[in-house]
Amino acid sequence: MKERRILLVIGGGIAAYKCLDLIRRLREEGASLRAVLTRAATHFVTPLSVAALTNEKAFTDLFDLNDEHEIGHIRLSREADLIIIAPATADLLAKMAGGHADDLASTILLATDKPVLAAPAMNPRMWLNPATRRNVAQLEADGIRFVGPNTGEMAERDEAGPGRLAEVPEIIAAARKVLAEQRSVTPLRTGRPLAGRHVIVTSGPTHEPIDPVRYIANRSSGKQGHAIAKAAAAFGARVTLVAGPVMLPDPPGVRVVHIETAEQMLQAVETSLPADVAVFAAAVADWRLASAPDEKIKKTGRAPALDLVENPDILATIAKRGAQRPDLVIGFAAETGDVAASAASKRKAKGADWIVGNDVSPENGIFGGDSNSVHLVTEKGIEDWPSMSKDAVAERLMLRAAEYLRTRTAAAE
Ligand code: PMT
Repeated sequence: MKERRILLVIGGGIAAYKCLDLIRRLREEGASLRAVLTRAATHFVTPLSVAALTNEKAFTDLFDLNDEHEIGHIRLSREADLIIIAPATADLLAKMAGGHADDLASTILLATDKPVLAAPAMNPRMWLNPATRRNVAQLEADGIRFVGPNTGEMAERDEAGPGRLAEVPEIIAAARKVLAEQRSVTPLRTGRPLAGRHVIVTSGPTHEPIDPVRYIANRSSGKQGHAIAKAAAAFGARVTLVAGPVMLPDPPGVRVVHIETAEQMLQAVETSLPADVAVFAAAVADWRLASAPDEKIKKTGRAPALDLVENPDILATIAKRGAQRPDLVIGFAAETGDVAASAASKRKAKGADWIVGNDVSPENGIFGGDSNSVHLVTEKGIEDWPSMSKDAVAERLMLRAAEYLRTRTAAAE
């Protein structure tokens, strides 16, 4: 935490009093703090006590001319290494999910380009309400990190369930983790190193029908593949994202082709060629039914025998594409055990230039999780990257791709 700058957004809830202890503990750890209180928060803690503990002015009002003159809400949102929202109320989460900016806290959260860690606290029924579930799912897809809520007794009598603010040490541990991941991010370089390039990315699972209502699938969420498409677009590339069925929104500025099966994914990739770079982050189902019936398979008391055939290998097909082969073909390898060695042999077997090996043992939570710990296997050897967010893996990989293309172009001239 030493020398890290934290902006604490305090929402209006009974748990707000705990943020005073949070401020004290963060400062003890060496962090510097600024705090913003929502109007509701000022009913639970006073700006005066927050200011005394942070040793900084406590900010409350979007239209405070003095504050805007001295620092401004954009600087407030950008000058932090991390924004922590504690307590994150149902209302604040709803505003964030909807992109509202009608007070200082929500404006800062919309304007920031820094990681945001939310520590929700609310009544259990509010937390379990479908509207809050939707908002939290949207925010997770947008990259907001969460700690808690914990389950237990509420301040209201006879109320118990999920909704208690995470304990201060839990919030600090989560903040430390997010900051550690940020440290390992390659600084986002200015400029558009992939401008003029076409990048194709596959992402998510495929669904292989068993009959009209059932299918074979896997646990890929699409987070890693979508992050790569987003990073490539941010670096100026024209991006085609071939996406299996996922719950994520389409990344802005990216052409998205939605498919369901491996055969459709192959066709979408082939028709999107030529490309400079192709990244195969999708978890393609290895098998499909030789022929899926048009009618739902009935239960007869005997389990049906499924006649499976192998799906086309999209990566291997594109890597052997002759004149239409992209200059840089990057595969992923979902492995357990000796990840780097298996990834290295997959690179050769599939004809990829690079393979990104990730250890998908269940305890690592890579499928569906927000972070990844990968080994990049290239013609030069194996690099072990530290654990970092999937966004950070994506940025680093796309910067490497840009560098590879630049060197290759320079050598050809
Ligand atoms: O989606 P997330 O929840 O964010 O999780 C990310 C991830 C774990 C899915 C991703 O990081 C990853 O590892 N993707 C590759 C998963 C996989 O299918 O690995 P594989 O070892 O089975 O395949 C190796 C490579 O061949 C992959 O690039 C895959 O896209 C490609 N492949 C595999 C089979 C096939 N029929 N066609 C292919 O193109």
